[in-house]
Amino acid sequence: MRLLAISGSARQRSTNTALLEAMKALAPDGIEIVVLHRLDRLPVFSPDLEHDTPAEVSAFLDHVSRADGLIVASPEYVHAVPGGLKNAIDWLVSRFEIIGKPVVLAHASHRGDEMLASLRRILSTVSSRFSQDLFLRIPLIGKTPEDIAALLRTPPYAAQIDTFLRDFASVVADA
Ligand SMILES: Cc1cc2nc3c(=O)[nH]c(=O)nc-3n(C[C@H](O)[C@H](O)[C@H](O)COP(=O)(O)O)c2cc1C
Repeated sequence: MRLLAISGSARQRSTNTALLEAMKALAPDGIEIVVLHRLDRLPVFSPDLEHDTPAEVSAFLDHVSRADGLIVASPEYVHAVPGGLKNAIDWLVSRFEIIGKPVVLAHASHRGDEMLASLRRILSTVSSRFSQDLFLRIPLIGKTPEDIAALLRTPPYAAQIDTFLRDFASVVADA
């Protein structure tokens, strides 16, 4: 099973990206996770570009298309979904790749509930298989990617991640 883990943060030392990287490192056998964290490379969506898709967008759509499911983790910016992530979702909405794709949320902060509510509304609109009940939240604000990798390898966190991934894998397999 191939899962695409999309970070809404383009920050090089992002805690959300580090959380997704830890999932990749800890994924149970049979689950491959590809982490995508450079949504800043996508041009701003315009319906005018839909029939002449830019190369970066085609590569992104291809990643989504090849994934059996998506894990999204994002910071809150100004009480909202960061522009880069919303822009990526806008590209998906004009296409077929996201419809019916299993999607789940993870979050690397104890804050950001307004963004989470908004992202839940958006993702449940664009995919008929957004998992409302499955959610992994690990507060990691202020930690470095190195600290996060070490922390999440410790048994309590590793177990949480393992359960989350197995639960999502069951949802994905339950087509
Ligand atoms: C432009 C900007 C706006 C932000 N706005 C909020 C906000 O509205 N609420 C909040 O809780 N944190 C806000 N933050 C803090 C980030 O959400 C927080 O640092 C997050 O953990 C960063 O995620 P990352 O480590 O994955 O980049 C903001 C940060 C930036 C850079």
